[in-house]
Amino acid sequence: MLNQRDYTAVFDASPDAMLVVDADGVIHDLNRQAVAMFGWSREELEGSEVERLIPDASRGRHRRHRRRYGESPKPRPMGEGLELEALRKDGTTIPVEISLSPSQLGPDQKHVICAVRDISTWRRMRRLSGMMIAAAEQERKHLSRELHDEFLQNLVALKIRVKLLADEKDDGERERARARIAEDIGGTILGVKRMIRGLLPPELDRQGLSSALGSVFRDIEDVYGFKVHASLSGLDGELDEVATLALYRIVQEAVGNAVRHAGVNEATVTFESAKGAVTATIRDEGCGFELPGAEALSGDGWVGLAGMRERAALVGGHVVVRTSPGGGTTIRASVPFQNTGGQSG
Ligand SMILES: Nc1ncnc2c1ncn2[C@@H]1O[C@H](COP(=O)(O)OP(=O)(O)OP(=O)(O)O)[C@@H](O)[C@H]1O
Ligand SMILES: [Mg+2]
Repeated sequence: MLNQRDYTAVFDASPDAMLVVDADGVIHDLNRQAVAMFGWSREELEGSEVERLIPDASRGRHRRHRRRYGESPKPRPMGEGLELEALRKDGTTIPVEISLSPSQLGPDQKHVICAVRDISTWRRMRRLSGMMIAAAEQERKHLSRELHDEFLQNLVALKIRVKLLADEKDDGERERARARIAEDIGGTILGVKRMIRGLLPPELDRQGLSSALGSVFRDIEDVYGFKVHASLSGLDGELDEVATLALYRIVQEAVGNAVRHAGVNEATVTFESAKGAVTATIRDEGCGFELPGAEALSGDGWVGLAGMRERAALVGGHVVVRTSPGGGTTIRASVPFQNTGGQSG
């Protein structure tokens, strides 16, 4: 048979934070995970009301629900369908899932055992998968726009030219028209190549990050007349494949934003390799913008910026955006040499 000490060991071995709460909402016991999760010491929590662990805004509602639960207690998840948050000592909140089990631990006291699970990783993955769907959707829209505006129009124009060529009687004119058609076909082939490069960077594998980015910047100059002043030396060989792709996409999006939104025709990109990480800085002296808070950034209309952050976080790096209306925009993206995996954020 297990003795009291064994049961304490079982209680402490739970991966979830566990709290034993009485009918008045007073915490009687907690396990090691609870101390780690909430940041309070055992002594600070024992004897205090469980609402101490609930954010201000939900405290009143929690008390009411707790009393109602006390009238007909049965094992069940708490707040089903709600996104529950727990409050830590340092004032931060964590998304949690809580299950409740009524039990009578003392001779005449009814208790509830609460198992609290930190679901921030799960929540983050869900947000990420939502963003990936949004990004894929946006990419599809972009592709369809490009196919329509660029290639379809080119092909229609070529068809008309070929028809006119057939009717052309003048030898000189016919020769000029034929040369023009060949040139247009060449231009369309280049366009398709650029599009392929945007979708899936073939040079990244074969020639490395600096060469692949060099091609992107040249294309941008050719197509938009936008000059990217870049120093790309010493960039290759430091990062693994995943970090390389993350940095490539981040720089591509940041420069693309400068082209589309900044209202200027140049930007500067520099790279620095120090303290175990490569940092890319993309700076434009354009119109800048009002940066919303982290919550709004995960909504529609900010897929590019939110995607940069997520990409960096997935390889253990981070992105800092500095911008203000009229003050230009600086994006600094750091990715570590050693992939430390997704940090919370
Ligand atoms: N360098 C910049 N200069 C000025 N405004 C910018 C810049 N970068 C981003 N913005 C502003 O931030 C908004 C969101 O940018 P984000 O990249 O997140 O959008 P997006 O979903 O990628 O759309 P888009 O494809 O148009 O860039 C843009 O619509 C623009 O108003
Ligand atoms: Mg963008």
